[in-house]
Amino acid sequence: MEKLTGPRRKFLKGIAFIGIFGGLFWRFLVPSQKIPQKALLEVQKSDIPLRGALVFKRSRAVIIRREEDVYALSLVCTHLGCTVNVTAENLVCPCHGSIFDREGKVLKGPSDKALERLEVEERGDKLVVLV
Ligand code: FES
Repeated sequence: MEKLTGPRRKFLKGIAFIGIFGGLFWRFLVPSQKIPQKALLEVQKSDIPLRGALVFKRSRAVIIRREEDVYALSLVCTHLGCTVNVTAENLVCPCHGSIFDREGKVLKGPSDKALERLEVEERGDKLVVLV
C-alpha cells in the first residue's frame, strides 16, 4: 500500500477538515425541520357545549368554549403531573390541591405554572387538538 506524503496528504486532510467542520457549520446555519404535530383529539364542533367544556380524561385534555372562543388545555398538572379535574368553575388537581382558572392560570399552588394550552386546528366541521 502506498504511503501518503507531502502535498497529497495535506490535500486530503484539508478535504476531511472542510467536510467535518462544513457539516457542523451547516447544522447551525440551516434551521432544523419542524416536527409535524400529532392529532391528540378530533371532535365535531357542534359537540362542544356553548360556555361549556368537553373533558377527555384518557387524553388528559379539555376543550373549552366561551362564546366564540374555543381552546384546549392539557390536564397534566404543572406541579407533579397528576391529572387535573374539571369543575363548573375551575380546574382542581386532586393530588396537592392546585387550582387553575378556566384559562389554565394558577389560582392556588403549590403549582406555579399555568396549564399548557394545546394548539387547536379547524378542519371543516371538526376541531383537532394537536400535541
Ligand atoms: S400534582 Fe397537582 S398539585 Fe401537585
